[in-house]
Amino acid sequence: MNDRMLAWFQAHPNEFVSGEEISRELNISRTAVWKHINRLRAKGFEFEAVPKLGYRLLQQPTRLDEISLLTQLKTRTLGRQIRIVARTESTQNEALQWAENGAQEGALVIAEEQTGGRGRRGRVWHSPPGKGIWMSMVLTPRIPLHFTPHLTLLTAVALCRAIKRIVPVPVGIKWPNDLLIHERKVCGILLESQAEDERLIRVIAGIGISVNLDEQDYPDHLRSIATSLKREYGHEIDRATLLAEICLELEQLYKLYEEQGFGPIRTLWEAQSVTIGREVSVATPYGDVTGTAQGLDESGALVLLGQDGQYRKVFSGDVHFTSEGTAF
Ligand code: BTN
Repeated sequence: MNDRMLAWFQAHPNEFVSGEEISRELNISRTAVWKHINRLRAKGFEFEAVPKLGYRLLQQPTRLDEISLLTQLKTRTLGRQIRIVARTESTQNEALQWAENGAQEGALVIAEEQTGGRGRRGRVWHSPPGKGIWMSMVLTPRIPLHFTPHLTLLTAVALCRAIKRIVPVPVGIKWPNDLLIHERKVCGILLESQAEDERLIRVIAGIGISVNLDEQDYPDHLRSIATSLKREYGHEIDRATLLAEICLELEQLYKLYEEQGFGPIRTLWEAQSVTIGREVSVATPYGDVTGTAQGLDESGALVLLGQDGQYRKVFSGDVHFTSEGTAF
């Protein structure tokens, strides 16, 4: 049914088609037409609805295709094995399963849509079809298990630098690894590790970037706290180009980390940070810790200077800004 209706719209490009006309032609009720339109909208199709005129198909979801991605990739290992799936519960699960079946370092799973995308601390990650980059990469770093936070920070730096190179937006990192534009979240990172006897086997690096989402693509509770690159920049962004840049940046920083350790990554992270210099309150498992953010220590912990003149380190938690930021 949806397909017949879609075919009808596709056969009338840029024309308004009334609900009545569709209902007559396809022999379905007006309510069924409206429901189908909403279902198509949820799949990434955009319609304009004007009273008395009807509906007009404005845009069809763009698909990420492997050829276009591979031709733009400039990496040696990361992203060289790719799986693009239309729909999955979570790319994290797909990538893990693939890794357990032999996928090598750098193997990349990308989904057009996730039905159970997950974020940090058991949160849901909103992943509507055709509009974002929902991806998971298999990494097999030769580092001690307790160094994995370095990789989260490294990934945040890579994303920040890649986005800035493709889209002129003032994106910055909120500790440890949220990317914000004008204080709204545009990207999240979730690293899941597998270890055996305290030995790190692999990391599945999950990245979610809200690329081309429009205002109506967000549920109410996210609309004012989340944003997309398109909302900030005002234009659609080619996801394959951005993805290729992300893989390249990740590969270069990963190599830098392997060769020189966390020092250079820490400096790069601090340069992209929107946390340093701000008064923050960090909700940790042991209660709230407040202070002015000073920087990172060698493990990636955030160092805060409290009003009592004491330095404190936080190793995990959610940062809330308690002072105004400066424009950057
Ligand atoms: C967060 O900020 O809480 C992390 C969000 C991570 C979302 C990405 S989308 C691709 C990958 N698959 C998932 O289920 N989650 C990550």
